[in-house]
Amino acid sequence: GLTTAQRAAIQNNWATVNANMQEMGDALFMRYLLANPGDIQFFPKFASAGVGAQLRSNEAFQEQTLTVFQFLGQIVAKLADLDAAGKMLQERVHSHKPRGITMAQFERLLDLLPRFLQENAGAHGPCADAWRVAIANLMPYMR
Ligand code: HEM
Repeated sequence: GLTTAQRAAIQNNWATVNANMQEMGDALFMRYLLANPGDIQFFPKFASAGVGAQLRSNEAFQEQTLTVFQFLGQIVAKLADLDAAGKMLQERVHSHKPRGITMAQFERLLDLLPRFLQENAGAHGPCADAWRVAIANLMPYMR
């Protein structure tokens, strides 16, 4: 599990994300889609915009990234109860399955998060490491 200090590191840093959530969501998804360009096809509502600078001004894209980050915020708020957080994530994995999206996609997105927060949200090393521990604890719920 997470230590109290690890949970505090994640939750305190998330305030920085909250202050700029749209921007953060857009930037993480850009990073994800640049690394996995084919995955834009999962999103009919903005696939035609293509993976490029113009995507960031696409309203459907923005709505999607904000939705995901708001959800991640709920996970962050629940980290004291990893089982509850894991079950929330499990529901999302189930809701994505009919769209052909698997745990592999979730894992690739979450894998980007610790370094992303270091580079974009001022997270320090221990915070990034705490995220790695949290993700490792949540991963079994997504299988
Ligand atoms: C919709 C969360 C990763 C594709 C949603 C929704 C949430 C969500 C809350 C709206 C409710 C629902 O349908 O369940 C997350 C979280 C993720 C994640 C927390 C990772 C930690 C991904 C990835 C992809 C993806 C990696 C594709 C590569 C979609 C699609 C929709 C969706 C296609 C429906 C969009 C629409 O047409 O409105 N996601 N998602 N998601 N997500 Fe995810």
